[in-house]
Amino acid sequence: MEINKIAVIGAGNMGHQIALSAVLSGFQVTCIDTNADILNKAIQFADNYLTERVNKGKLTSEAANQARTNLAFVPTVEQAVAEADLVIEAIIEKLAVKRKLFAQVDKLCPAHTILATNSSYIVSSKIADATTRPDKVCNMHFFNPALVMKLVEVVKGPHVSDETVESVMHVAKKMGKIPVLLHKEIYGFLVNRLLQVTRQEALKLLDMGVASFEDIDTAAMNGLGYPMGPFQLLDLTGVDLAYHVGMEKYRESGDPADRPSPTVVEKFTKGEWGKKVGKGFYDYE
Ligand code: 3HC
Repeated sequence: MEINKIAVIGAGNMGHQIALSAVLSGFQVTCIDTNADILNKAIQFADNYLTERVNKGKLTSEAANQARTNLAFVPTVEQAVAEADLVIEAIIEKLAVKRKLFAQVDKLCPAHTILATNSSYIVSSKIADATTRPDKVCNMHFFNPALVMKLVEVVKGPHVSDETVESVMHVAKKMGKIPVLLHKEIYGFLVNRLLQVTRQEALKLLDMGVASFEDIDTAAMNGLGYPMGPFQLLDLTGVDLAYHVGMEKYRESGDPADRPSPTVVEKFTKGEWGKKVGKGFYDYE
């Protein structure tokens, strides 16, 4: 199926950059957030980003103007999805909220529209039955910062049609991304399963008082060649995301081992959610 129009739901950490990536690859894009502050921040970011890319010589001013024409930030889901061929959901990591949104979007968008979730952990079969088109509901998982990171994980749950997977893989490639296909649904997909191991160990070492978070980051970067240490990465992806993911897993399993680490709970409670709020493990003010 030919995909020309993409709607991104959620203009937060991931959504606004997914929207920009898509518009810069020639798609017509709408990006919606019901939170006016987040939407305004996204509009500002997009404007600055396009100007900076032109100033850096990485984008022509014609391409930047085209992107401005083809990208609309809107305040309602109705406006965003009415004509979309593909919807990419990038909202809070809570299953019940996602299910409610997918049920709503299912009623508002055309019958042919594919509904993808950018969830970091939640497999689409937990959401698909909230819609009347489970064969068109799948995972399409981008990485932060989405304008830079190349990987996209596409997951073919048992309910997903071959056509849906083909279309989503094609969109990812057209966006200049490198898609990988998971033939089975699994919690955390590939990357977050790998990342979780390092992150949990880093938090454990910190909670045990073995080293400071700065030194653990220094060790990961200089001993393993990671581009960022686990705490810098937590600040980038969001302490709130780590908290919600841990709580969601704990709610489901009932296993106390799945609860977020004491440090993550403390940071979440204090509102120190990372780069986006100016403070996480590090200070960004
Ligand atoms: N947003 C947009 N663009 C950014 C950016 C941001 N936050 N940060 C950097 N960039 C761009 C810069 O503009 C620059 O672009 P250019 O070369 O085309 O001019 C380019 O990235 C390089 O920037 P810098 O030289 O300033 O910085 P670095 O070379 O240190 O790269 C980085 C920054 C790409 C963020 C790098 O540190 C990195 O790869 N970090 C690891 C990120 C990572 O692991 N992400 C995955 C997280 S897990 C995840 O997302 C899963 C989810 O489910 C939680």
